[in-house]
Amino acid sequence: MSCEHHANDAAARRVIGEALDQTLFVEAGAGTGKTSALVDRFVALVRGGTEIDRIAAVTFTEKAAAELRERVRGALEQAQGEADVSPRIAAALESLDRAQISTIHSFAQTLLRAFSAQAGVDPDFEVQDPVSTERRRQERWRLYLESLDGNRAAEEAIDRVLTLGLLTGEIERLAGDLSHRPTMAELLAANPLSASEPSWPDVGRLRADVESVTSGAPEGDHLSGRLNGLLSVLQALERSGDGEREATLAAGANALANGYKGNASKWGGKDRKAAALEIAERVSGELNGVLAGLRAAALAALLPLVVEFVSREERVRAREGSLTFDDLIVRVREVLRDNDGAREAFRERFAALL
Ligand SMILES: Nc1ncnc2c1ncn2[C@@H]1O[C@H](COP(=O)(O)OP(=O)(O)OP(=O)(O)O)[C@@H](O)[C@H]1O
Ligand SMILES: [Mg+2]
Repeated sequence: MSCEHHANDAAARRVIGEALDQTLFVEAGAGTGKTSALVDRFVALVRGGTEIDRIAAVTFTEKAAAELRERVRGALEQAQGEADVSPRIAAALESLDRAQISTIHSFAQTLLRAFSAQAGVDPDFEVQDPVSTERRRQERWRLYLESLDGNRAAEEAIDRVLTLGLLTGEIERLAGDLSHRPTMAELLAANPLSASEPSWPDVGRLRADVESVTSGAPEGDHLSGRLNGLLSVLQALERSGDGEREATLAAGANALANGYKGNASKWGGKDRKAAALEIAERVSGELNGVLAGLRAAALAALLPLVVEFVSREERVRAREGSLTFDDLIVRVREVLRDNDGAREAFRERFAALL
């Protein structure tokens, strides 16, 4: 870290240490002095008369929280001799072990216990460790799928995305991802995605286009292979009934993804090859567009089932008083957003949040 670097952001550092009544967002790279700046601000608050009990400092890991506490201790010890403020510094040092310097999850847990009544959670709630959260979610997802047995609409929605090429593990991962983003699940519950079904092109016309170049296609050329692959998919689509078309298209997905460009000398010239390539690109483009549209529509139809799982699980955990790390954050956010009393008490309790 060069001195010049520091000269450049000296003003920003001063604001962090002095503008104590302002809310700041500080973004800086690794090792640039973020923690030092936070410690400076902490000590400045103490100097200014804020009791250490009313300062909360949050970090992401236990290790960082422990480091922060020790750095605050070091900075307070250095400030100990300062004439006008030394009783404040001494009092802060005395209370430092009790200070709210913690991970964000631990802070959320403290708040949620304090506001459990307002948040509607059991004050003696337990916090699941992340490994059992994951295990439990997998188990509950399996039970949820079983509970959908015999639910025609649900079974059809699941079968459809599987037919279109999504794997069961991927659906489960979607459930996991949404469980980690309860806000997103909430949004999706309120505003379900809608994707309209794509319209199918005239398959006979596409087949005729491809045939117009496959008849004279050179043997052993990659572009010829690509066109033949497309032709097989189109012929299979023509033979398929309405109910089978999308499964047929999904089964041909590999042929649609083929990107071979062909060899002009084999095609007897650039122009002939270019014409053939243009048809291959256009036909695979149209079919890929249909496949993507079908997948989007199928996922949009599946999503409410996953969202239902996520919100149902959240209610079960609240009822059982067994919360995940994500719940801690979400529940605290909700109670502070929705409950005036909790928000007021929070403001009373903390003068500064770092
Ligand atoms: N204004 C400054 N001038 C010179 N050196 C500084 C300054 N601020 C911090 N440092 C030094 O830079 C190093 C990194 O500081 P610090 O740990 O505060 O950075 P950080 O941004 O929190 O790092 P990390 O990304 O690892 O958390 C420390 O050795 C610290 O003493
Ligand atoms: Mg740091």
